Amino acid sequence: MPVITEIADLKRIYKRRVPKMFYDYAESGSYTEQTFRANTEDFAKILLKQKVAVDMSGRSTESTMIGEKVSMPVGLAPVGLTGMQSADGEIKAARAAEKFGVPFTLSTMSICSIEDVAAHTTKPFWFQVYTLKDEDFMRRLFERARAANCSAIVITVDLQLLGQRHKDLKNGLSAPPKFTLKSMANLATKVGWGLEMLGTKRRFFGNIVGHAKGVTDPSSLSSWTAEAFDLTLDWKRIARFKEMWGGKVILKGIMDAEDAKMALSVGADAIVVSNHGGRQLDGALSSIRALPRIVDAVGDKVEIHMDSGIRSGQDVLKALALGAKATYVGRSFVYGLGAMGEAGVTKSLEVIRKELDITMALCGERDVKALGRHNLLIPKGFEGDWQDG
Ligand SMILES: Cc1cc2nc3c(=O)[nH]c(=O)nc-3n(C[C@H](O)[C@H](O)[C@H](O)COP(=O)(O)O)c2cc1C
Repeated sequence: MPVITEIADLKRIYKRRVPKMFYDYAESGSYTEQTFRANTEDFAKILLKQKVAVDMSGRSTESTMIGEKVSMPVGLAPVGLTGMQSADGEIKAARAAEKFGVPFTLSTMSICSIEDVAAHTTKPFWFQVYTLKDEDFMRRLFERARAANCSAIVITVDLQLLGQRHKDLKNGLSAPPKFTLKSMANLATKVGWGLEMLGTKRRFFGNIVGHAKGVTDPSSLSSWTAEAFDLTLDWKRIARFKEMWGGKVILKGIMDAEDAKMALSVGADAIVVSNHGGRQLDGALSSIRALPRIVDAVGDKVEIHMDSGIRSGQDVLKALALGAKATYVGRSFVYGLGAMGEAGVTKSLEVIRKELDITMALCGERDVKALGRHNLLIPKGFEGDWQDG
């Protein structure tokens, strides 16, 4: 087993193991990828304040997310097609998260279905929904999530249409992959991945094929997806979803203080400051830069989570110190999953927790909940000095 000390190690192995089409799917932002890059680069601009001669024994990274205990405030973000990064990928990631004591969020666009993941885990997980036109389908999704004992839904509000990712179009991304000359040449070099994939039946969008009207076979799925998302979505419909679900709701994809206030008004239990990992509005602020204004606007009224760009425990610490109650990782766990399956997801979480713990200590803190802006050196103008309008 190679020595893995940081998330970048997992990424290198992941790149070797997984077909290019799926590596590119994860490792892309939309259009010029400016926001995708800014998400990670802006974390590096925030510095940490070193403190010495303070008691650093008995440290704790434990916290809560929407009232649920977590071993560290880092959930697994919903990631579509996770089951194409590694066979039965959602089940593997959910199991790793459960054992580690952090939330797993299953994407609507997962390969393993809600029922599949429920059957292979013992604790409640969270289910992410995209806002689709078909009210019946939405209702059934909620019913299925309820039957599977999901303890929260995450409504993603920043994707009613897709920010274009050039590579996906050029690669002809599909699940399962189509056998073109180009994809065959690459797939032929990914033997371990291929053998595992041959060993599972889960190769289609498990929550949709056979559940959505008119999608009985996977080849009709792409036309369904293009038409299924609700372009007319508004806050009223989001409030209706909250009512329909009747449980805890997290709204994901908020980047603006006024939108955060609207999220509050429709009764969100938490919001996720997120630009979808730079995959939607290219040219948007990085999430870490958008965070402080939202914390200032609604931080005392609703739980604020953030994602996009987290590749280390230091990044987690910076987001928490800037006022997020919790964070999520997307790509960081996908690298681990693609590299080494369930053990790789566990490894990615271990790496992040260790970095968070040690960094906390060197900042003179013992409790993750006590982190604050006092731990940071934030460049002047970090949030931006933008003209109104
Ligand atoms: C490959 C990939 C697929 C994703 N699929 C979904 C999805 O199905 N639903 C969703 O709400 N967000 C999705 N996201 C966004 C993630 O939930 C999360 O916001 C993002 O990955 C955070 O950025 P990070 O990857 O830099 O951590 C996806 C992200 C990636 C990288």
